[in-house]
Amino acid sequence: MKIAVLGGDGFVGWPTSLHLSDQGHDVHIVDNLSRRWIDTELGVQSLTPMDSIQERTRIWHQETGRKIHFHLIDLARDYEVFKQWLVREKPDAIIHFAEQRAAPYSMKTDRHKNYTVNNNVNATHNVLNALVETGLDAHLVHLGTMGVYGYSTIGAAIPEGYLPVGIETLEGDTVNQEILYPANPGSIYHMTKCLDQLLFQFYAKNDGLRVTDLHQGIVWGTHTEQTRKHDQLINRFDYDGDYGTVLNRFLIQAAIDYPLTVHGTGGQTRAFIHIQDSVRCIELALNNPPKAGDKVKIFNQMTETHRVRDLAEMIARKTGAKIAYLPNPRKEAAENDLVVRNEQFLALGLDPITLEEGLLDEVVEVARKYAYRVDRSRVPAVSAWTKDIAKTVEKDPEGTRLKSVG
Ligand SMILES: NC(=O)c1ccc[n+]([C@@H]2O[C@H](COP(=O)([O-])OP(=O)(O)OC[C@H]3O[C@@H](n4cnc5c(N)ncnc54)[C@H](O)[C@@H]3O)[C@@H](O)[C@H]2O)c1
Repeated sequence: MKIAVLGGDGFVGWPTSLHLSDQGHDVHIVDNLSRRWIDTELGVQSLTPMDSIQERTRIWHQETGRKIHFHLIDLARDYEVFKQWLVREKPDAIIHFAEQRAAPYSMKTDRHKNYTVNNNVNATHNVLNALVETGLDAHLVHLGTMGVYGYSTIGAAIPEGYLPVGIETLEGDTVNQEILYPANPGSIYHMTKCLDQLLFQFYAKNDGLRVTDLHQGIVWGTHTEQTRKHDQLINRFDYDGDYGTVLNRFLIQAAIDYPLTVHGTGGQTRAFIHIQDSVRCIELALNNPPKAGDKVKIFNQMTETHRVRDLAEMIARKTGAKIAYLPNPRKEAAENDLVVRNEQFLALGLDPITLEEGLLDEVVEVARKYAYRVDRSRVPAVSAWTKDIAKTVEKDPEGTRLKSVG
């Protein structure tokens, strides 16, 4: 297949591009490299040394003889350029990773809120609009998030996208309908993913576009089979307070002897998936497209759920790290349960990598190896969800608390 990987220079997009290229697909990365600019804006860098996209693809060619093409396009702004690109390249499938994906970054300031909404919603809409306009029947696979469901405890398992409901008619009968599970975003970033869902629903219904939406859990880990082939193929690893996801942050904190920073009681339960499994799920989704006229196909792309404090304790046990409980910069329930259905990927043959078996490798192979590159001052998470919360977090900055723990 000829596959366009939108956002293919990113944390999930890069290993996905390598995996699909390895399988013989003709892979074309489309990216505006905005994530690299955000590193510059924040004054941070990936823990792992990351080469330019041109150099990465050159190394891939040298190692495997296979070509991955790179196209510099801003999907949110360069609609006409992307449309012409589609007409020229005619991909069979498009994987859409190209959004601003950090909740803390999206909540930093009003400018960051505007940027996240404009970038994410425009990019998604431009892709859908261009598909209709060019008449291209490419299967669109989008990376959404488990966060669209929200994190409230309701005592029931979260279904894969849709909820059956009964509505009482005027005559008092009940009609059965299937609706999108109620959206309950917890940040501006998550809100854009909820808006994406509606865009997909409309374009699938109105224009018969074939869309798969993957509601992904938090991705952890760094390496996949292909990124291990050469040092310069290494994936990015974000550890900073804005882009670092909870588990990868704990791993690097353990490696540099920094207390594991748990927000609030650590009672938040979240869904997780290893990067290797994420890449495999995307391949499974590509191989099982919906038909034209079908509703959007939704998968829950996660393999296990954990409470944040349990994760911290698991890592502390394995590494001897200390744990620091800090004020939570987010507006969210202090404790929640999370039960998620994920039978569809398991039925397609996914055999998950578990945290228990993979964690220590990550600490040794990645976190400790590159610990010398860490800027400790960038580890704290300081973006607060509201102005009131900002005051509480400022009153109790991580630095002072951490000294008393460490
Ligand atoms: N990383 C996770 O834990 C996680 C969890 C759930 C869902 N997701 C979703 O998966 C997708 C990929 O996540 P990631 O961690 O690889 O993010 P990332 O930030 O590392 O990668 C996103 C890529 O998209 C590019 N991009 C952003 N806006 C663009 C635009 N307007 N035009 C062209 N390119 C653009 C960026 O330059 C970057 O290379 C995101 O949509 C994210 O919401 C990620």
